[in-house]
Formats: sequence, structure tokens, C-alpha cells
Amino acid sequence: MEVCGGASALSSRSSISHSSFHSFHQPTSVLCQVRRFKVFCVNASSQSLKGNQMTVSITGATGFIGSKLVQRLYEDNHSICVLTRSKSKAQSIFPVKDFPGIVIAEEPQWKDCIQGSTGVVNLAGLPISTRWSPEIKKEIKQSRIKTTSKVVDLINKSPSDLRPTVFVSATAVGYYGTSETQLFDEQSPSGKDYLSEVCREWEGTALGVDKDVRLALIRIGVVLGKDGGALAKMVPIFMMFAGGPLGSGKQWFSWIHIDDLVNMLYEALLNPSYKGVINGTAPNPVRLAEMCEHLGSVLGRPSWLPVPDLALKAVLGEGAIVVLEGQRVVPARAKELGFSYKYPYIKEALKAILAQKVVV
Ligand SMILES: NC(=O)c1ccc[n+]([C@@H]2O[C@H](COP(=O)([O-])OP(=O)(O)OC[C@H]3O[C@@H](n4cnc5c(N)ncnc54)[C@H](OP(=O)(O)O)[C@@H]3O)[C@@H](O)[C@H]2O)c1
Repeated sequence: MEVCGGASALSSRSSISHSSFHSFHQPTSVLCQVRRFKVFCVNASSQSLKGNQMTVSITGATGFIGSKLVQRLYEDNHSICVLTRSKSKAQSIFPVKDFPGIVIAEEPQWKDCIQGSTGVVNLAGLPISTRWSPEIKKEIKQSRIKTTSKVVDLINKSPSDLRPTVFVSATAVGYYGTSETQLFDEQSPSGKDYLSEVCREWEGTALGVDKDVRLALIRIGVVLGKDGGALAKMVPIFMMFAGGPLGSGKQWFSWIHIDDLVNMLYEALLNPSYKGVINGTAPNPVRLAEMCEHLGSVLGRPSWLPVPDLALKAVLGEGAIVVLEGQRVVPARAKELGFSYKYPYIKEALKAILAQKVVV
């Protein structure tokens, strides 16, 4: 600590300065910088409950949801450690000029980030919207289990004074399986298909975290945002076929606007009541036909021709199952917790997203 810098340089987010951010990644000074980061984290941890100032380590931070969460936390002056498989990819997404002070760590450095973080968010996983060969299916599951297992292990092995107090881990509404008739809340049993099996094992791995660490498992629905996720892929097909329901149109579509999901993840980090399974979905799921009707009206397209399943499968592969065979999920826990949605209804959510004009 004495070698790396004085206490005053470690007492706020700006302590990981532009130059120290660079040198964190220089092989010659990694040890010194890691120690600096650790000391900084301890300091942030001990003060975080006063000012709600957090240090958060995030896997999958470079993805659709993670990058929005990073931006949000960054704007609020929290310290962030991006846990990634590729430093260069992460550096291009979070350039130093726009995100000075963010620490980017590849696997060997994850331990130093996690130790001393106040919270960890786990979003990593191979995208499921692809063609599912047996190898890809294995990787979809393994990528989630392996990353979660590593993170859990690092949290559990942290000395108690450096251990994060909260672990927010992603899972998905695929946990419930699919149905056109059933209503699922957090108490509902798991389904019998491949995605429910993935989610059960993913959650089971996260549940291995020490009992003194608060665990929030967020079962995420289809996330709607302007520059990623299912919507970005659906809109061009929808436009091509002049709109209309995808598949039969009767399937349920349990969606959430990306801003609401990011707020929920943020709240889960801060609020001790966010514990256990919480459905990360909007309070008003819709049938796909209704979603397509709103999409058509927002895009100014008629909604009368059904978009063939095949077209969607061509783009999403077997991953299209999340759209073509949905489930009706309600966020009972979020309601109990008093979570306030910015976009409870799909029409307003789509309007807000498509007004940004990036998706089409
Ligand atoms: N988007 C949705 O609608 C939705 C719905 C339900 C659940 N979820 C879940 O929420 C999480 C985040 O979703 P997202 O849409 O933000 O995902 P995303 O954009 O695909 O990003 C996921 C991140 O995971 C990491 N990753 C990718 N392949 C990996 C692999 N083979 N092994 C380990 N890590 C890998 C990558 O980070 P690095 O390259 O930096 O390591 C990537 O940025 C995912 O686990 C997803 O299943 C998403």
C-alpha cells in the first residue's frame, strides 16, 4: 500500500486515475496496481453503506445488458471492474477516454477484482439466439455454469473482510418451460425442456455462494432495447414480411424494457430486500400477436400477414424458441418489493425504443 500510493489517493473513485488505469494493464506493474485496486476496494467497501457507493465486478459486462449496466453505474460514480475474456474487446467497448477509471480484468485478475468488491453481477453466457448444434447446446450451458462456478468460488474463497456482500446472478424465464395457458411466478416449478435444464443448473451453481452473501437470482425475460437482443433481430424480419404475428401469435411474450432491467439489477445490488429469485419481466406480458400489432403500429406497418416461423428460425436458429414458444411470467416478487417500472406496457416500451431509430 505504501509502495502504491497514499491513503488519500485511494479514498474515492478518482483514485483509479487515467494513468493508473493504464498501468493496471502493464505487466511490469500489475502487482502494484492490483494491490492498489484491492486497497481501494476495501476502502470503498467499508464506506459504501454510508454513501451507497459501491465497487461492482461484472461478468458479461461487454454484452447487451452488461454494457448498459456499466454505463448506469458509471454515471452514478460507482467503481466498476469489467470481468471479461478479452481485454481488447472490453477496451473497445469502454474506451478509457469515455470511461476513465474503469478496471478491465481478464480471468487471471478476476480474483483481485472480486476480493474487495462490494457486489458482483454475473451476466456471462454464450448467446442462445443461434443454431443449436449439439456442440453449441453444450457450450450454451457450459459457458454459464463455468463462469458462475468460477465467480462463486472466488467469492467464497475471499477473506471475510474482502468478500462481496451481494451476488446478483442472471438466469432466464426459460426456467419455467413454455406454455400458452399457464401463468408462472417465482413459486412455479421448472419446465422439462432444454432451456429449463440450463436455467436450473445455472441457478444451482449460483446457489453455491456462501450463505453470508446475499444472492439475488434475476430470471430475465426477453429484453427489449434499441441496439441488441431479440428485438433488433425481429424488426428487420417484421419489416420484410409487412408485419403480422410471428408463428401462431398466441404464444406469450414476457418482455422487459432494458432500462427497467438495468434498474432492477442496480436495485438488487443496493437493496437488502432483493434476495432469492426475482422475475426480471414487465408486469404486463402480452401474446405475441399483440406485441406484433403494437410493433406494426409503432413502425407504421400493417399487421396482417403472419411472419412465418421459418423466417424467424433462419435468423434466430433454434434459439427462436424463446419467441416462438413463450411463457406468461409475472413479476410477483418485484411487485411485493415495490419495484417501480418506467415501462409497464409494451406499447410505450416499443415507442420509446423505436423512436431512437437505431434498430431499423
Ligand atoms: N437479452 C435477453 O433478452 C436475455 C433474456 C434472458 C436472459 N438473458 C441472460 O442475461 C445474460 C446477459 O444477456 P445479454 O443479452 O447481455 O448477453 P450478450 O449480449 O450475449 O453478452 C453476454 C456476455 O457473456 C460473455 N460471453 C459470451 N460468450 C461466452 C462464453 N462462451 N463463455 C463465457 N462468457 C461468454 C461475453 O462477455 P466477454 O466477451 O466480455 O467475456 C458477452 O458480452 C446472458 O447470460 C443471457 O442468457 C438475456
